[in-house]
Amino acid sequence: MEFEQQMVKKVEYVEQVIKAYMPDEAGLQKTVIDAMDYTMSAGGKRIRPVLMQSVYELFGGEEEYVEPFMAAIEMIHTYSLIHDDLPALDNDDYRRGRKTAHIVYGEAMAILAGDSLLNYAYETAAKAFSMVAEPICMEEKGVLDEDKIKLLLEEVNVRRSMERAMSVLTTKPGIYGMIGGQVADVELTGSRLSEEQLTYIYENKTGALIEASMLIGAILAGAKDTELDKVFKIASNVGMAFQIQDDILDETATFEELGKPVHSDEKNEKVTYVTIHGIDESKKVVERLSKEACSLLETIEGDCTFLKELILYLIHRKN
Ligand code: IPE
Ligand code: IPE
Ligand code: MG
Ligand code: MG
Ligand code: MG
Repeated sequence: MEFEQQMVKKVEYVEQVIKAYMPDEAGLQKTVIDAMDYTMSAGGKRIRPVLMQSVYELFGGEEEYVEPFMAAIEMIHTYSLIHDDLPALDNDDYRRGRKTAHIVYGEAMAILAGDSLLNYAYETAAKAFSMVAEPICMEEKGVLDEDKIKLLLEEVNVRRSMERAMSVLTTKPGIYGMIGGQVADVELTGSRLSEEQLTYIYENKTGALIEASMLIGAILAGAKDTELDKVFKIASNVGMAFQIQDDILDETATFEELGKPVHSDEKNEKVTYVTIHGIDESKKVVERLSKEACSLLETIEGDCTFLKELILYLIHRKN
């Protein structure tokens, strides 16, 4: 199958998963659920869950319990966008082709919708634990034969990998990850950024959630620590390239292509990779980081064709 067709299929699958895990719009909290759904259902590229699922597949994963984690990472990402667009941050009026949540629902409800998506992400991911059987030793009183011991060990390993995935899902969006990057982005606006500060901001505000996506896919599939190190490095390159490309598009794309305002960085007097290095140099860096990621990907055993094509596609993405 062609890459484009595969991507369409994967995104369709992600949409189904997200839909299945979103809360019902009912009760006195209905307005906030409506606001959560408004930005979630507006679309978006769904890159993070696609990356998670594709890495999971690369390492041989084939269980359904990756799905609540896929929905969770997109909820966390969407919360970060709702808050990023608020008047106190980037003050942007459009997102994913729609008026931003704070324009439609007011600031208070947009803040709460962001909070709710973050919290609901963890409520959702935690559902993975009930998708595996309780370790049989809890019920089994008799002697365990070899088959049962094997089953027991498998269950224990699955639970361990879920706990590890949870730890990544709780840490990467936080102060040592995405929020840390957003804090530096906000606080250093208007100052001359050092290369080190700029790298910190990009690795965290954007890199952290991409790293979380790919690491969780690998962890849930039972990848070894040496492989996780490689996945981290690949994701870190993809994250950096992704944010530089976002900065390029902020200057070169149209509103129709992006579904969000163009020249938002200029409006907010943001120092970006593009304002420091220029468009041409930035494009070269996006390409170099992405190709390095692909070379490292090739050293992992398994069929990485789709992931490689996805990383290369992102170099020239138009939105
Ligand atoms: C936008 O992310 C924010 C950045 C981290 C650059 P995406 O470009 O993935 O946004 P959606 O999900 O497709 O709307
Ligand atoms: C994205 O940075 C970071 C997060 C949303 C966490 P930007 O502010 O550049 O993202 P866009 O351009 O608004 O999507
Ligand atoms: Mg921002
Ligand atoms: Mg922004
Ligand atoms: Mg941007």
